[in-house]
Amino acid sequence: MRVTPTKLETFRDDFTYTNSEFAIQRFPFPFPEDQYSYTVNIEPHALPGEPDSVYEHLFDVDEHYLSEMHERGLVLAESPKRCLAMPHMDLACWDLIERAMNALSADYPDWFKLSKEGDQWHWQNTLLDIDDTFTFGDSSTLPMPPMEYIGRQVQGDLALMDQRDGDLFMDAGIVTCPADWSLAFDAGMSFSEWHGPVPMAHELGIFERALKYLTAMQVNRPVRRLNWTLTVNARMDTSPEEYPHWGNDRASVTPDNVGEKVYLRVELQVIDRMPRSNALSINIRTYMASMNDLCANPDWARRLHRVMKDLPAPLIEYKGLTRYHPMLVEWLSQFDREQ
Ligand code: HEM
Repeated sequence: MRVTPTKLETFRDDFTYTNSEFAIQRFPFPFPEDQYSYTVNIEPHALPGEPDSVYEHLFDVDEHYLSEMHERGLVLAESPKRCLAMPHMDLACWDLIERAMNALSADYPDWFKLSKEGDQWHWQNTLLDIDDTFTFGDSSTLPMPPMEYIGRQVQGDLALMDQRDGDLFMDAGIVTCPADWSLAFDAGMSFSEWHGPVPMAHELGIFERALKYLTAMQVNRPVRRLNWTLTVNARMDTSPEEYPHWGNDRASVTPDNVGEKVYLRVELQVIDRMPRSNALSINIRTYMASMNDLCANPDWARRLHRVMKDLPAPLIEYKGLTRYHPMLVEWLSQFDREQ
C-alpha cells in the first residue's frame, strides 16, 4: 500500500537512497525476454492501471517524492538552464499544468487539492507545503515560470514537444535526472536529430515508425514505454554537464561491490497529447534498484544474467557499461545455474 512519502534521501555524496520492499515489488522490471533488443515498445497507458503498480496513475507518486523534489532543487540551484521553455511553448506549459493538477488532485486527494472558479485556480500540495492561487494562463500570477512550477512538483523529467510539419521538436522541458543527455543540447532538435546518437535503432526503422505513431496520438490517450540503463551508485543526475562528477564512478566497481554499487535504472516514459497546444508531453520517470535488491528475486536475477550476457556490443558501448560489464555478467552468473 502507498504510504505518505516522508523520507529525505540523497542521490549524491553519501547516497542514502534505499528502496522499501514495496518499492522493489512494484519496480518496473523491463525485460520480458532473455534477450534484449530495441523495438517500438509503445503501449497504451490505460488508466487506472493495476492498483499500487507504477502504472496505476498518469503520474506515479512514490516513497521517493520528497527526495526527488529536493534533488531537483539542488540541480536547479546549480544549473538553472536545466529548465527551459521557448516562448511559443507557453500554452503547452499551461496544458501540462492543467493535466498534472487535474490528475494529481484526483488520484491523490490526501496530498493534492485543486479548486477552480473560472480561471482563478487554487492549488495545494500538502507534501511540499505549497498553497497558491493564480490565474490560469497568466504566468505573471505564478511564483516562477510555469514549466519550473509544475516540474518542481512532479517526479521524473518532463519535456514538451511542439508538433510541426509531421515532426516533433523538443522546445521545452525540465531535465535534472537524465540518463546522459542534455536538454540544453537537444533543445530545438527534431525527433530523429535528438535520437541521433542511438546505435542500431535508426537502421531498424524504429524511430521512423515511432514518430508516425506519436504524431497521430489523440488527447486523453496517453501511451508509455520503458527504457533502461545501468548507473553506478544511486545517482539521479547523470547528465553530460555533470560527467566530471560521475564518469569515474564506473572505475569504482569491483567483483566484491557489484551488488551494491550497480543500479538498474528504468525509465517509465509516459507520452501524452496536450489539448490546447497540440504539443506532446513526456514524463520520464526514473526508478533505480541495486543489483542486490533485484537479485533477491530469482526470476529477475536469472533474467538479468541472460540479458546482460548477450547484450549487443554497440548497446554496451552506448549505455556506457564497457568498463564493468564483464564483471557484472560474472557476478550475475551465480544466479543462473542452468545456463
Ligand atoms: C517523444 C518523446 C521522446 C523523447 C523526448 C525522447 C528522448 C530521448 C533522448 C533524449 C534519448 C537519448 C539520446 C542520446 O543518447 O543523446 C533517447 C534515447 C532513446 N529513445 Fe527516445 N525519446 C522519445 C520517444 C521515444 C520513442 C517513442 C521511442 C520508441 C522506440 C524511443 C526510443 C529510444 C531509444 C531506443 C533510445 C536509446 C536508449 C538507450 O538504449 O538507453 N524514444 N530518447
